[in-house]
Amino acid sequence: MPDYIYLLENRLSPAQRNALQLVRDIARDASMTVFLAGGAVRDLTSGSSVRDLDFTVQGNALKLLKKLEKSGVVLLGEHEPSRSMSLWFPGSVRVEVSTARREEYPKPGKPIYHWATIHEDLRRRDFTANAMALSLNESSYGLLLDPLNGVADIEARLLRLASNYGFLEDPSRLVRAWRLHHRLGWELEERTLVRYQNAKEEGVISAIPHYLLGVEIEAIAHEEDALGALKALEAEGWMKHLDPAWISAKADSTGLAALHRTLTQLQIQGVYPDPSAAQMELLTAKMQPKELAGLKKLFPNPGFVAQWESLESDAKEFARVLSGKDAASPSATWKLLTSYQAEPVLWLAFSSKSAPVQTKFNNFFNVWPDAKQRVPLALLLEMRITPELPGYDDLLQEIFFHLIDGQLQTEEEMRAFLEPYSPPAPPAPVNVRKTRGRRAERVRIEEELEEETDLHEDAELAAESEDDMDEERPEADDAPPPPKPALKSVLPGEKTTADGGKKASSSTSKKGSLQPAGIVEAATSKQSQAAPKPAGKGKAAKAVPAPKEEAKPKQATPAQSQKVAKSTPAKAIQKQVKPVPKKVVAAKPAPAKKQAGKAVPKKIASKATPKSAPSKAAAKSKPEPKAHGKKVAAKKKH
Ligand code: CTP
Repeated sequence: MPDYIYLLENRLSPAQRNALQLVRDIARDASMTVFLAGGAVRDLTSGSSVRDLDFTVQGNALKLLKKLEKSGVVLLGEHEPSRSMSLWFPGSVRVEVSTARREEYPKPGKPIYHWATIHEDLRRRDFTANAMALSLNESSYGLLLDPLNGVADIEARLLRLASNYGFLEDPSRLVRAWRLHHRLGWELEERTLVRYQNAKEEGVISAIPHYLLGVEIEAIAHEEDALGALKALEAEGWMKHLDPAWISAKADSTGLAALHRTLTQLQIQGVYPDPSAAQMELLTAKMQPKELAGLKKLFPNPGFVAQWESLESDAKEFARVLSGKDAASPSATWKLLTSYQAEPVLWLAFSSKSAPVQTKFNNFFNVWPDAKQRVPLALLLEMRITPELPGYDDLLQEIFFHLIDGQLQTEEEMRAFLEPYSPPAPPAPVNVRKTRGRRAERVRIEEELEEETDLHEDAELAAESEDDMDEERPEADDAPPPPKPALKSVLPGEKTTADGGKKASSSTSKKGSLQPAGIVEAATSKQSQAAPKPAGKGKAAKAVPAPKEEAKPKQATPAQSQKVAKSTPAKAIQKQVKPVPKKVVAAKPAPAKKQAGKAVPKKIASKATPKSAPSKAAAKSKPEPKAHGKKVAAKKKH
């Protein structure tokens, strides 16, 4: 289920959002509940671009007109019987506001309207995908009403009749079905298709009422691919019922293709005209004046016909403004082109033969936009002017205008221009010192680690003296590194008394919860850094970062292996970390200075010799016989 509040905020254009808010506000003031319905909800749900907005109010929609007109809305046409109206909102937004109703059809194409609730209204609609509404009311804003499970059909890309009698009652739905099938690429659901074919064969279309016929004719003009829609309806045989004089052969197809190219160029620069009137002009370019007059009479919205008819004069007026002082500089021209009513801009850009006008459009489309690449983003960053700052976008626009006007050509000029916008430098970063409590905790953990290492060493030394007595062992330098699991067998808690074991396990659990990743990491690093030192002079140095296969228990005694099996993996990891390398560093025969400096990166080195513990570490690092030192170091590696 989509998040409709999110979709309303993000999928509508700013002008559509303003229109929605205005209708909401005015309906609320008139104590009417209001819903976004029909095609707009379908398009929001399916991810298509929302072309126009259909609102349904519970109450007489026509009563909202006066207030809407006061806010700059233009009435294109109204249908008194159904209490619905077509409107033109600022920013070229087409809107339909209708009254929630139930429809009764005593005869095909002759509805009787009953004012009703939104739920009844949704059930009287054409297809399930169009029978959904979104509440725009305060307490339920964004709530989806979908009584016929339109969402499922949208997902399946199906047009399914909302009522079995849909085509018979309102034959204009036959044309709608085919137009939507062509535009959306959705199939007619199986039974809907059968009903469509039956109704078509039976000639139900002849019962189409005049008003709805006009609605379908005008709908072609609003199609994005209007010529394609006209051709599709023609091929299906519907155009001869709508207007036999209007055929695709009478359209200026080359002109339509050029119009769409111009439309795209304008959209790229942020100008969004409604191309419907311009399309209509080209779709009917080769019609006889008489045919054209007849066609225009069919349109239900006189306001739309007026827009169509005033295309030339509006464009002419715009050409006059564009040649005047309001467009004296490139930036002024840019501002004019992006703020003027978009439809005359489109028609002039498409149709003008005047060289100065063409030059201005060419600059607008192809030359001036290059300046956007010259906006000095690196300098802005250097001067701490970043996108988070309020007014950042406006500043970019201002820089762009200066650039296209030929100002701010050098870096000095740009710096001087940006200086007032540059926020003060932030204070120097404060070195946050660890709190006493945290440091004390760290010291405590390290002491525990040391204690455990001592026990570990003692146990190892004891084991070694036993071993020494039993047999000759290779020197640590020559020996391959012992397998990791072997180390665990001599760790405290594994071999010591129940008391010792208890202590070890409690310290393990403490470490599990308190030891910050940094400490584990530092200990691991210390281990790997410290280990090579004693071995550095011998062959074993190469074997120090024990590869996995070296951990094979081939050198572990059966007893050791058994102990390894007992220890949990988590424990095993911690125990591998346990040996504190600083002790190893202290105990080992001092390597060459340079080498030690290289082996211990600063950060790690500081962790290896915490200020709080040097004396303790020194005290604990008993001088050991050389051979022992080597062996201990070799074992500690793991
Ligand atoms: N409607 C209907 N029967 C018709 C015409 C319209 O049930 N003969 C309903 C549909 O619910 C439709 C809504 O009125 O969605 C609005 O109609 P309209 O704006 O003509 O069509 P949209 O579905 O919005 O399609 P478009 O994208 O072409 O605007």
